[in-house]
Amino acid sequence: MRLMPTKKGSTDPKSDAGQIADPTHGARHIAIIMDGNGRWAKKKHLPRALGHKKGVEAVRDIVRVAGEMGIEAMTLYAFSSENWSRPEDEITDLMGLLRQYIQSDIDEFDENGIRLKVIGNYKALDDDIVDLIDNALERTANNDRMTLAIALNYGAQDEMVRAVKSIAESVNQGSMDPQEIGADHISDALDTAGMPPLDLLIRTSGELRLSNFLLWQSAYSELYFTDTLWPDFDKRELQRALKSFGDRDRRFGGR
Ligand code: IPE
Ligand code: IPE
Ligand code: MG
Repeated sequence: MRLMPTKKGSTDPKSDAGQIADPTHGARHIAIIMDGNGRWAKKKHLPRALGHKKGVEAVRDIVRVAGEMGIEAMTLYAFSSENWSRPEDEITDLMGLLRQYIQSDIDEFDENGIRLKVIGNYKALDDDIVDLIDNALERTANNDRMTLAIALNYGAQDEMVRAVKSIAESVNQGSMDPQEIGADHISDALDTAGMPPLDLLIRTSGELRLSNFLLWQSAYSELYFTDTLWPDFDKRELQRALKSFGDRDRRFGGR
């Protein structure tokens, strides 16, 4: 277990020779594919919409817990660029929940020092949602306790296509030499620019795939899959994932 120095004056009961356990286990940036709302509802013979509603409650709790733990950045997959293929009424439900969530939780973000970020082509969402998002981004821009990135109309391939276009634009204008393009230029052109490297990628609901999420950023992330359905994912589950992360030997190609 990694340890960090006790904060001055701390009376943490876990104190051990001036050290306390670090609940993040050294993870700075975690991302979650929040999957399984539909199956959660089905299991309980409830409408899918209620599964999504419960899913928002799980988001609220996990954001709070991650902030308290000292996680620097968290990226949550809320709506993929492929989710448009769902029935219209489900998309309407999801967009309605998104509206509600931003409106109801913006004060709490601000109070808790959370800086909101959105990755994905959110400008393609309904105008009123774009306005809500833009206001929330502006209002929380100077918060620095934790960055919460929500992936909306996000697809990693779409993100990379947009990044390539912006780099090609710089080449076209003569401000960039194609031979000088490196991995950093690509990272900087992605929606996650400026965020810490992705340490841990979690997927709930037992599916073992990335579904077009953070394909570039996860090059050296640790992966954690759990059968737990997203609405049931809680503090203990997050602690379990972080403990697993802390026990891994990250070699980055070395030995
Ligand atoms: C995740 O739950 C939420 C979104 C993709 C928006 P699902 O709706 O995918 O739930 P399952 O996978 O059908 O159980
Ligand atoms: C991934 O879940 C997207 C989100 C969690 C927002 P999906 O349910 O859309 O993924 P697939 O279709 O099972 O790959
Ligand atoms: Mg799913």
